[in-house]
Amino acid sequence: MNTLHLGCDADAIAQAAALLRAGRCVAFPTETVYGLGADATDPAAVVRIYEAKERPRFNPLIAHVPDVDAATREGLFHETARRLADAFWPGPLTLVVPRAPQGGVCDVARAGLDSVALRVPAHPVAQALLRATARPVVAPSANRSGRVSPTRADHVAGDLDGRIAAIVDGGETRVGVESTILACLGGDPVLLRPGGVPREAIERLLGRGLAEAQATGDDASAPRAPGMLASHYAPRAGVRLDAREIFPGEAALLFGEPRPAGVDHAIAVRDLSPSRDLAEAARNLFAALRALDESGAHTIAVAPIPRTGLGEAIADRLARAAAPR
Ligand code: TXA
Ligand code: MG
Repeated sequence: MNTLHLGCDADAIAQAAALLRAGRCVAFPTETVYGLGADATDPAAVVRIYEAKERPRFNPLIAHVPDVDAATREGLFHETARRLADAFWPGPLTLVVPRAPQGGVCDVARAGLDSVALRVPAHPVAQALLRATARPVVAPSANRSGRVSPTRADHVAGDLDGRIAAIVDGGETRVGVESTILACLGGDPVLLRPGGVPREAIERLLGRGLAEAQATGDDASAPRAPGMLASHYAPRAGVRLDAREIFPGEAALLFGEPRPAGVDHAIAVRDLSPSRDLAEAARNLFAALRALDESGAHTIAVAPIPRTGLGEAIADRLARAAAPR
């Protein structure tokens, strides 16, 4: 398959929307990472995403819609869910809610669940594409399954060229880590995945602490994100966390000062944020992992990074990158 490389002007958006409506897969930028889109109402189109990504099993996908009105046609929002939607949409938040009986997101996209994951992205290109497509669009990150998520169009091309219909290039993504996922299935919201909206902002709105999903699913009634595999975002190199020293043969991923001992001997070095700004670090995380992986180092040693704010999502992604495979 010849993958079209599109810009993001009005013609490109119209072309991309036509492809989506014809059941093809199109990668496009959101403010978090690039997504691989398909018509959420078309099971054959959704299956093409799993094939292109080589996703090992059918995980439910996030349906992207342009606004809260479109979201409430797909899902049932209780009062707290509605408050979260009003406060954080458009933006890097995904809400898992009971599906609306008349909703269009197909069974394959929801992996047969009675709930649906919904997100209203803020990126202007994503917004324009969703409005032009006029259907909910499912979009996992536009990488081969298990690999590092793409924050630039050339990352997408490296993983998926020849496997998808088109890539819409909207430049570098602003947030850099995927959306925060909250389950709102009745009772208090539950954090399924830390992401682009920091926990603290959600807790401020709720006026209380946020419960977390069980990491392991012994309790079948506990809501969790089935796609949260322990090993994920896996570079070829090994990943070593909380490194205060860099050993021979390692590449170094830094977070400003203090720099770990031995960093001058590192095979390659990337600093996520010289000024120790967590938003900047989140934005740079995936591109830095890709670059250090390409250095040929056997291990990427990562300096300690605080876990507050966006640091929680960064720590989550790094823990998955470091997990045994
Ligand atoms: O920022 C993002 O969220 C990006 C961009 C492209 O929007 N998308 C993304 O999608 O990260 P993906 O497929 O990598 O992650 C979807 C997550 C999975 O962990 C999946 O298990 C969970 O959402 N999920 C989807 N539907 C669910 C449901 N009904 N119940 C629980 N978890 C669900
Ligand atoms: Mg992903």
